[in-house]
Amino acid sequence: MSWPVPLVPAGDGPMFQRIARAVVDDIRRGRLVASQRLPGSRALASELGVHRNTVLAALAELEAQGWIVTQPARGTFVAASLPETPVTRAPAAGRRGQGGQARPLGFALPPEPQLSPRYSGDLRRGELHVSAGVPDPRLFPVDALARAWRRAVRRDGRRLLTYDAPEGHPALRAALAAMMRAIRGLSCTAEDVLVVRGSQMAIDLCARGLLAPGDRVAVEALGYRPSWDALRLAGAELVPVPVDESGIDVAAIARLAARRPLRAVYLTSHHQYPTTVTLSPARRLALAALARAHRLVVLEDDYDHEFHYEGRPVPPLAAADDGGHVVYLGTLSKILAPGLRLGFLIAPPPVVARLGLLRAAMDRQGDRPMEAAVAELIEDGELERHVRRMRTTYLARRDALLAHLRARLGGALAFEPPRGGISLWARVAPDIDIQAWLAACAARGVHVSPGSRYTFAGDEPGAIRLVFSALTPAELDRATGVMAATLRSLSGARSR
Ligand SMILES: Cc1ncc(COP(=O)(O)O)c(C=O)c1O
Repeated sequence: MSWPVPLVPAGDGPMFQRIARAVVDDIRRGRLVASQRLPGSRALASELGVHRNTVLAALAELEAQGWIVTQPARGTFVAASLPETPVTRAPAAGRRGQGGQARPLGFALPPEPQLSPRYSGDLRRGELHVSAGVPDPRLFPVDALARAWRRAVRRDGRRLLTYDAPEGHPALRAALAAMMRAIRGLSCTAEDVLVVRGSQMAIDLCARGLLAPGDRVAVEALGYRPSWDALRLAGAELVPVPVDESGIDVAAIARLAARRPLRAVYLTSHHQYPTTVTLSPARRLALAALARAHRLVVLEDDYDHEFHYEGRPVPPLAAADDGGHVVYLGTLSKILAPGLRLGFLIAPPPVVARLGLLRAAMDRQGDRPMEAAVAELIEDGELERHVRRMRTTYLARRDALLAHLRARLGGALAFEPPRGGISLWARVAPDIDIQAWLAACAARGVHVSPGSRYTFAGDEPGAIRLVFSALTPAELDRATGVMAATLRSLSGARSR
């Protein structure tokens, strides 16, 4: 181990003092941080070209001053609490350095972009996140993926570990195209597929590559904020369109388009986010006609297609898109895991080529070894088996949640059993203070999202979203128990 930045024992005085001063200086600048292990005295002596005794003398001096501590048989460490407040060299506006002191910022930051708040949630032990729209990581096929990764890199490492085309690994493009043809009814080939790091990247690429600043884009008024962020960052003007039990109101989009030019529609047609309703057949036809009439780009975000429990999944708009309007966005975040950052976009090859160039300017290419491994999982049927298992598991979890809610919160919540998706949208009785209720639940370790996280204007729609995919029936039992008990104590407090 050597010093992070070469020590410069400058100045006057004996060498051991100069070394000690240089170490203190590094601690004050944040190059060495509290509790960091220091290299051994031999290594430092050889790096500085001095006798080891000189370094030992410097370390003794530093220890006497409280800057470092020596732990027998473990080594020498920067002290956990330092003897003086480190010198700050800039006003507090600078970002925090590793050592905790403010680091100067030598340039002005442009105005902060208007982005939605992130609700990542702090995963504390024992807490239940009924708010996290993710698959259950405990059920992830770790071994199958690890084997596939190892096989792919062993076999093909020379190609996988270097630069390559930005559109994605050919095997994954082909495997995704085959899966989309077989399962989702799309007519596509590998050339129509752009592999991305999750649909968020696809939305960003579409926003920058297919829209011009100032273009108007219709979005669901109850919807997916990260998509709005990407569209807005590219300069799009978003127009919220109401959503009801048949999905986005296509007649309202038609009225918008009749008044002023409309360029695109972003929608979650299959399991509307967050209500999970499916766009009705009549609205599908009307949207296709509208797209033709106004030459619209239709960004269809089909993020959890296979998790459909009543009947067969409804084929995507893209499957019936004869006019070439639909850019289809898919992700492996729900059917596999969001941390893999793998998604895909399906569009005619000129669109794929254009967006591939944009992608290369930002991200060069994706994670080739992972793309190859996931291609194997698809080719050998592992992903399909996993999805089938998960559908059964999530259906049981949905039903457990429904049963608990009916038994415990039937008077407080009104909901339809979701026919698909991984969450449930429930309207809350008007006399309940949703914010107070959910804050009380969070204080007891149960996190639930208020509907206001999904509204365009941030207003409270009088609803909550409950995700059942990542919690076992026993955990859902516990979570709904806490929700009911909290509600009882709140209404008890109110009636007192
Ligand atoms: C509507 C919607 N689209 C897409 C995604 C997936 O995003 P990504 O593929 O970037 O992980 C999610 C995940 O929460 C989502 O809710």
